Amino acid sequence: MPLDPDRIREQFPALALEDDGQPRVYLDNPAGTQVPRRVLDRTHDYLVHMNANAGGVFRTSEATDALLEEAHRAVADLLNAASWREVVFGQNMTTLTFAFSRSLGRTLKPGDELILTRMDHDANVAPWLLLAEDLGLTVKWLPFDTTTYRYDLDALDGLLSERTRLAAVNYASNALGTINDVRAICEKVHAAGGLVYVDAVQYVPHGPTDVQALGCDFLVCSAYKFFGPHQGILWGREALLERLPAYKVRPASDALPFKFETGTLSHEGMAGTLGAVEYLAWVGATMAAEYHDAYRHFPERRRHVHAAMRAIAAYERTLSERLIAGLQAIPGLTIHGITDPACFGERVPTVSFTLDGHHPRDVARRLAGANIFVWDGDYYACEVVRHLGLHTRGGLVRVGPCHYNTVEEIDRLVAAVAALGEGRARP
Ligand SMILES: Cc1ncc(COP(=O)(O)O)c(C=O)c1O
Repeated sequence: MPLDPDRIREQFPALALEDDGQPRVYLDNPAGTQVPRRVLDRTHDYLVHMNANAGGVFRTSEATDALLEEAHRAVADLLNAASWREVVFGQNMTTLTFAFSRSLGRTLKPGDELILTRMDHDANVAPWLLLAEDLGLTVKWLPFDTTTYRYDLDALDGLLSERTRLAAVNYASNALGTINDVRAICEKVHAAGGLVYVDAVQYVPHGPTDVQALGCDFLVCSAYKFFGPHQGILWGREALLERLPAYKVRPASDALPFKFETGTLSHEGMAGTLGAVEYLAWVGATMAAEYHDAYRHFPERRRHVHAAMRAIAAYERTLSERLIAGLQAIPGLTIHGITDPACFGERVPTVSFTLDGHHPRDVARRLAGANIFVWDGDYYACEVVRHLGLHTRGGLVRVGPCHYNTVEEIDRLVAAVAALGEGRARP
């Protein structure tokens, strides 16, 4: 049975909210998604029944330890990690990347080389730039083609050398929507002896993530982008994490994943993240039977989550088709991203555009007036916006559907933008 939008939407209390009689249309999902009941229940249950610090010998602390381990196991299922010990929770992707770059930095020497890209969110750029500044590392830049909106992988060959230590790349762009061929990048970088750090923040909500199939070394994502609470997650290959020195307080455990999980984490957040994975498993169990066979060797929750993400990707493709066709029909509107339906397997439904004669902030404000939530500016993809030459013009407008959005919502958005294009006062 394919995804049933009504059953999905029933799970998300926020989707039923209206303001002054106008339903909310959440198309700001790349900046953060709404949460299903399972997340709310898990969070509430943790705070009422288990609230304690970890590592004690009494009931609530023992329950906390068990729940935190289960949260790690759930994320291992989501990412197809070989072990839950490879999953590190933290405040958010940015903070984890800053901390982790310092650990990696302890293994690097002046003149070692990092490869960064013009397509990445700054959270996968600035930590490495600052590390390079501190240690005297050399930074090389991988561009993207401004007509195909893909990395230039031939250019990557020219950037690699025997001094390459790390490439920091994204799985899906938060601005262009492109899904990148991370596996091919890993093969090239590994052949040169480097490691690959993948920002999967914008991919995980839209498709099955399999760190083993990708062959990457580290991968980061954020639970609040995949229907969970505000929290970041880092996955790393166990042998690498074991070897890397952690910035930690001395009494804290040296075991994985705890050596990288500094201080007291958001236990209620981790309970909520567990709930988000359980929600996805429910989607997989109830609405994605056709994909189960592809994952028959996975344990049950892992199988259901990965099947769910396949069903979600298929459903979202229908939203992408509707959205892109609708926007393309608006005079003066330019989509900055892949628009060929034959290539929609290479994009998530995040669509950024500019509209002649309209500043992106004004477009977003006018849509907000119709209770349609979209983002504008560079959304911290400052390299992308500069590379497109739009940094002095307010950047782009970003429309980011996810699996709980409907075709009707897409039509409402398109009609509102079209009305703006025609110069009407209110969409
Ligand atoms: C692609 C990408 N990477 C990284 C981040 C930063 O994530 P966090 O807010 O968890 O630090 C974002 C946030 O929007 C993002 O879209």
